Amino acid sequence: MKLSTLLPLTLSSLCAAQTQFTGTYTDTKSGITFQAMQDSTSGYFFGIALPETTAGNTDFIATIGGKGTGWAGVSLGGGMVNKLLIAAWPNGQSIVSTFRKTAQYGPPAVATGTFSMSPIANGTYVNGTHFTYTFLCSKCILADKTTFAPDAAQPTLGWAFNTAAPSQKASASSMMNKHSVEGNYIIDMTKARSANFATWKGYAGGRVQRDVEEGVIAEVAEEVVAREFWA
Ligand code: HEM
Repeated sequence: MKLSTLLPLTLSSLCAAQTQFTGTYTDTKSGITFQAMQDSTSGYFFGIALPETTAGNTDFIATIGGKGTGWAGVSLGGGMVNKLLIAAWPNGQSIVSTFRKTAQYGPPAVATGTFSMSPIANGTYVNGTHFTYTFLCSKCILADKTTFAPDAAQPTLGWAFNTAAPSQKASASSMMNKHSVEGNYIIDMTKARSANFATWKGYAGGRVQRDVEEGVIAEVAEEVVAREFWA
C-alpha cells in the first residue's frame, strides 16, 4: 500500500504530527476496495470491506500488513484484552495467520471458535518492502462484544505491529512477542460497504497447504493451521 493512496483523502482533516491516516483504498492487485488505516512510520495497514446489507452479516474481507518481515495485528474490538485479535506475518514467500485472545495483557493464546479465515491469493504477497495478507473472515463478527457489531457505523479498532517476527514464524501458534507500536482508531464502516462484496468473496479459498501427520490431514482447527499459498 502506498501512503499516497490515502493521503489526499485525509490530510485536510488531520494535524501534521499525526502518522495515522484513514481513507478509501483500492488494492491494485486484488481490485478490492477497502476502508483502511495506515501508520506511516511502521507502514502498518489494515483495511476492511463489508457487504451493503449488514443486518445479520458476520463476514468481512480484510487486508493487513506492513513494512519488513515482522508481524501485524488487528483487534476487532478495539482493546487488546478480551477481544478477538488477528495477526499475520511472512514466512518466506508465504503468510502465516492466526486468531488470538487473552484475558490479560501478555502473549495472547490461539483463539478457537466458529470463525475462520480463507486467504485471497491475488491480494496476498511478500515483496522487497512489504507483506500483505488479504482474506475472507467468515463468522468473524460476533455478538459477544469481542468484535465490532454487524451494524456498527464508526467502531474503534486496535492495531499492533512489531518489526520482529514471532520466534517460530512457520507456526501459526507461535508465541508472539509484544508489539513495538500499537493504538486505537475509529474506522468508518459505512464507507467499507460495497455491492461488490459477493464478487470479492468469491476470490477466497486459494490453494492451502495443511499440516500433515502420518499421511492424514491433521484434524486441527482451521484457524491454527499455518497457511501457505501462492499468488
Ligand atoms: C494481534 C495481536 C495484538 C494486538 C492487536 C494488540 C493490541 C493492543 C492494543 C490496542 C493495546 C493498547 C491497550 C488496549 O487498547 O488494550 C495493547 C496493549 C498491550 N499489549 Fe497488545 N496486542 C497484540 C499482541 C500482544 C502481544 C503478543 C503481547 C505480549 C507478548 C502484548 C502485550 C501488551 C501489553 C503488556 C499491553 C499493555 C500496555 C503496554 O504495556 O504497553 N500484546 N495491545
